[in-house]
Amino acid sequence: MPIGGAALDSTSGIPLPKETLSAAKQSDAVLLGAIGGNKWDSNEKHLKPETGLLQLREGLKVFANLRPATFFPQLVDASSLKKEVAEGVDVMVVRELTGGIYFGKPRGFRKNENYGEEIGFDTEVYAKYEIDRIARVAFETARKRRGKLCNVDKADVLEASMFWRKCVVEISSEYPDVELSHMYADNAAMQLVRYPKQFDTIVTNNIFGDVLSDVASEITGSIWMLPSASLGESRSHLAVQGPGLFEPRHGSAPDIAGQDKANPLGTLLCAAMLLKYGLGEENAAKRIKDAVLDTLNRGFRTDDIKSSGTKLVGCKEIGEEVLKSLET
Ligand code: IPM
Ligand code: MN
Repeated sequence: MPIGGAALDSTSGIPLPKETLSAAKQSDAVLLGAIGGNKWDSNEKHLKPETGLLQLREGLKVFANLRPATFFPQLVDASSLKKEVAEGVDVMVVRELTGGIYFGKPRGFRKNENYGEEIGFDTEVYAKYEIDRIARVAFETARKRRGKLCNVDKADVLEASMFWRKCVVEISSEYPDVELSHMYADNAAMQLVRYPKQFDTIVTNNIFGDVLSDVASEITGSIWMLPSASLGESRSHLAVQGPGLFEPRHGSAPDIAGQDKANPLGTLLCAAMLLKYGLGEENAAKRIKDAVLDTLNRGFRTDDIKSSGTKLVGCKEIGEEVLKSLET
């Protein structure tokens, strides 16, 4: 189903056609292709491809965005960090996805007397239920990993963050087995590149999660390798129905469009996450993941992850190599 630029260019002319949202809602899981492109960058907000994605997240109520950043030994030379810093990193960023400043009101542009000119403004706002449910997903996630949860906020400055932290601390009493710590977002950005191995699971709001998950991705060598799962309540150990949305972490890379250069492995790993978290098909998920790793082990690389001694191939060819790995 079309979304973003594809939808804008089709007869519907809007970034999320009704038919796309209803087909997504009726599905067991949704796999998203990257959206966006220069062509639509100067569109008004309601006609931006990004708006379509935000509407889809909101429509599917997928408030919990799991963004792993796992070091790939095969890609050690692709990371901009030193080997000893990047090696062994395994961080899961749990990003709140349907609230905060991305959706908060009031927002807009208006003339303002205090400033004597037009202003642009947004609102960072979180209700207790929104914090509680993302905190529970994060504690559950940490519990299944190494049992450490770092809450990231700006409780030194922002009221919304002070409230966020208070709610996270309250929820922590339900999870005495998980070790909770707190970090300010600016420090967390620095710590992620200084000593990323200190992190297991991170929980944070929508905007800090957007930024920090991109920072974390570079530890692993390439954002093009990384998947994400956006889950609603039924897929996150709670009780409401609805499919998960599985999105690659990268954008659409318009600069290399049509050149057969893009790395499809992140999207394939999204399909693996879809199988695992969306459909409960853990074995199938593992087969895809193993096929991707086997393809890397056999030395195939796209342009973004190439290094000396590896075989540079295009998008189509690396896909074919993954298929070969899957068949063996
Ligand atoms: C992401 C993207 C999106 C976001 C954009 C495309 C709306 O940057 O998924 O990280 O800001 O959430
Ligand atoms: Mn982003």
